[in-house]
Amino acid sequence: MAKKITVIGPGTMGTGIAQAFITAGFEVVLIGRSEESLQRGMAIIKARMDKAAAKGKLSQQEISSAMGNLKLSANYDDGRGSYAVIETVSEMAETKMEVFKLAEEHIHSEILATNTSSIPISKLSEAVKDRSRFIGLHFFNPVPVMKPVEVILGKDTSKATAEAALRLIEECGKVPIEVIDYPGFVANSVLMPMLNEAIILLEKGVSTKEGIDTIIKLGLNHPMGPLELADYIGLDVCKDIMDSIYNETHDMKFKPAEMLIQLVSAGKLGRKTGEGFYLYKQER
Ligand code: CAA
Repeated sequence: MAKKITVIGPGTMGTGIAQAFITAGFEVVLIGRSEESLQRGMAIIKARMDKAAAKGKLSQQEISSAMGNLKLSANYDDGRGSYAVIETVSEMAETKMEVFKLAEEHIHSEILATNTSSIPISKLSEAVKDRSRFIGLHFFNPVPVMKPVEVILGKDTSKATAEAALRLIEECGKVPIEVIDYPGFVANSVLMPMLNEAIILLEKGVSTKEGIDTIIKLGLNHPMGPLELADYIGLDVCKDIMDSIYNETHDMKFKPAEMLIQLVSAGKLGRKTGEGFYLYKQER
């Protein structure tokens, strides 16, 4: 029988993770707070699959089988019997900890995983009674395309949980990489100072936004320039990650650049709001 997974939070990461698991044959319960957010999440998954079908990469049969593996719910009890819970709600420790309290109480899974990008795993694990089952699984956006997953061990994560999580990630077709509970783990320790530095260079007028992005894209062979990537990730998300790592390390390279702070307070959050460093046609 297919393994059952519960994904909590039908946002960008949650829908991407749900899609990766249903495509790999897992049964997924996607939990959200409102019917509207769940329906929107499902429409996003279906639209991505239809796009893949239009390119001849998926058949209608594969789409209906994958979509048949997806169940939407606002009720944690529907997750009961899940092998793993993967939490993908907003990047606020209190919110995530509330979710884990409910998940542990109602779902009783073998693995309790957070997709946090920057909050210490050991801190989030304080929300649950059995911390040995708690682990970080940090996926990358867009999840259906990006292969690696950082598997982050908290101080109480058991060896059995770590091994089970590594196996689970392989079973959904991704590449798990074990890392310790270090501020920003590996990816954001490297990425956030780069994005911040690009913004500081823009502030200083060293080059235009297009100039900075083109140099990094073509000169370092990155798929996107840093400012374009920051817009793609979401400027609020970038700022939250930097704040979180800066608060832990007090390392100036993570202190959000002034221009980032201003854009976020003006509600210019990147692609999702139609404006960040660049202007976008509003997309869903
Ligand atoms: N969901 C699913 N699939 C998507 C997608 C999405 N949102 N966006 C693009 N794709 C797929 C396309 O369907 C296409 O698939 P096929 O090759 O099978 O047809 C493939 O990705 C390439 O897409 P495109 O040809 O449309 O565009 P592209 O070649 O410009 O690639 C990109 C788009 C994959 C996003 C690429 O620009 C890229 O890799 N950018 C960098 C992304 C990155 O760095 N992500 C990490 C962000 S950091 C993070 O996530 C962690 C954190 O904590 C902040």
